[in-house]
Amino acid sequence: MDYKKFLNDVAKNRQPLVLRELFALQQSAPKDVVFLSAGAPNPDTFPIKSGTITLHDGTAIQLAGDKMVQCLQYGPTPGYPPLLQQLGLLTATLHSPPRWQESDVLVTTGSQQGLQMALEMLLTPGQTVVIEEPCYSGVLSVISPYSPRYLRVSSDGEGIIPESLSAALDSCTPDNKPKAASVPQFLYTVPTGANPTGVVTSEARRRHIYRLCCQHDLLILEDDPYYFLHYHDKPPPASYLRLDVEGRVLRFDSFSKVVCAGLRVGWVTGPRQLISKLNLHKGTAVISTSSMPQVIISELLRVWGREGFNQHVSLLRQSYKHRRDAMLDAANKHLKGICEWHVPEAGMFLWLKVLGVNDTWDMVLRRGVLAKVVLVPGHAFMTDPTRPCPYLRASFSTADATLIEQGMRNLAELIEREVELQGNKAAGHRTRNTMLREADTKAALTTKH
Ligand SMILES: Cc1ncc(COP(=O)(O)O)c(C=O)c1O
Repeated sequence: MDYKKFLNDVAKNRQPLVLRELFALQQSAPKDVVFLSAGAPNPDTFPIKSGTITLHDGTAIQLAGDKMVQCLQYGPTPGYPPLLQQLGLLTATLHSPPRWQESDVLVTTGSQQGLQMALEMLLTPGQTVVIEEPCYSGVLSVISPYSPRYLRVSSDGEGIIPESLSAALDSCTPDNKPKAASVPQFLYTVPTGANPTGVVTSEARRRHIYRLCCQHDLLILEDDPYYFLHYHDKPPPASYLRLDVEGRVLRFDSFSKVVCAGLRVGWVTGPRQLISKLNLHKGTAVISTSSMPQVIISELLRVWGREGFNQHVSLLRQSYKHRRDAMLDAANKHLKGICEWHVPEAGMFLWLKVLGVNDTWDMVLRRGVLAKVVLVPGHAFMTDPTRPCPYLRASFSTADATLIEQGMRNLAELIEREVELQGNKAAGHRTRNTMLREADTKAALTTKH
C-alpha cells in the first residue's frame, strides 16, 4: 500500500534523528567499539541504587545493577527491547495479524500518546473526519482544534451501523462531489466497551466495516484499551488487526485498564511505514518513553508468564463485572422510567439517556454536587459540545456496590427535581409567551377599533 497519500506534510517531512540512530547503533554494536557519540548521562552519577516492587501475592521484583541502570537511563525510541519483544508476542498470540511480517510495534506513554501522534500524522486543518458519535473525548480533543468537517456515523447496541457509515462515505466520494474539500482518510473506533457507551462491536459488523474501509481506502484507528474487560463468556470478536489483510489498521493497546494507569505504558501496532513515522514523531516529542515503567511492566509480564497474566485478567474481569452488575441493579431500581440504557458488555461505563431533560449540563455541573452525585454530561463526547445533550456517563470502575446504589438513588432524585425545574421553566415560559401573545392580540384589536 502507498501510505504517503495518508500523511500530512509535517509527517512527510519528518526525518530520522542522527542522535537516535547512533543510540540504536550503540545498542547493537560489538563491545570493543568506542562510542564517544552519546549524550547520555553517566550512570555512576545516578543517585538511586536499587529498589523492590512487591506484588500482592508477595512476589518480589528486584531492580538493581544493570536493570536499575536501564530504569534510569535513556532508552531506544521504539521501546525497552525486552518489553517490545513481549508485546510483539502478546499481540501475535491474541490477534494473529495476517500481515505480521510487515508490521511493527511501538511503545507509547499510554495509548493516548499513540492516538495523538497518529492523528497528528494524518490530519490537516478543515479535513473531513468520519466519526462515531458519541466518541472518546480524548480523541475529540486532538481532532477538534483542526476544525474538521465531522461526518457523524450512528451506532446502536451492536456498534457502528455499517449502513450509516456507508451512506456517510458515499456522500463524499470524489465522483459525487469533485470539488469537495477532502475525502476522509481514516475511521477512528473503539470496538470493545466503547467510551462512553460500553458497546462491543459485533464481529459481523467489524467485517462489514472493514470491507467498507477497504472500498473507500480508509485507514482504521482501532483504539482498544478495554479489550480485556469484556463481560460475556463467548470469545471476543476478532479485532480489526486480526481482519487486516490489506495493512490499513493501526491498533492502540494500553496497560492502563489491565495493569495500572499511572505507569503510562501503551503500544501501537501496525504497518511498518506508519509505525516508523510515529517513531520519528516520538523521538522528537519525548526521546524515549520513561524507562522505569517499561522495565516494571516487562518484569511483571516475565514473572507472571502467560498463565499468570491470564489469571490476573480473569480476576479483573470478575471484579469489574461485579461492579457493572451492581450499577445495573441500582439503575433498574432507581432509574426505570426516567432513563434509558443498553447493558454495557465491556469497559467501565453506563451510558444513560435522561428522559424529560433536554440538556444535562447544568443539572450535573451546577446542581450535582448539592445533590451529592456527579457524572459526566454527555456533551463531553459530542463533536459539537455546545448543542443540548440529554445523556450522562456513569462510571462503575471505582465505587463499590454501596456507593453505586447511593449514587444512583441521588441521581434519580436529581433527575426528578430537574424534570420539575425544567417543566416549571417551560410552564413559566409558556405563561410569559401566552401573556405576550395576549398583549399582542389586545394591541391589534385596539388598533383595529
Ligand atoms: C477509549 C480510550 N482510549 C484511550 C484512552 C487513553 O488511555 P491511556 O491511559 O492508555 O492513555 C482512554 C482512557 O480512558 C479511553 O477510554
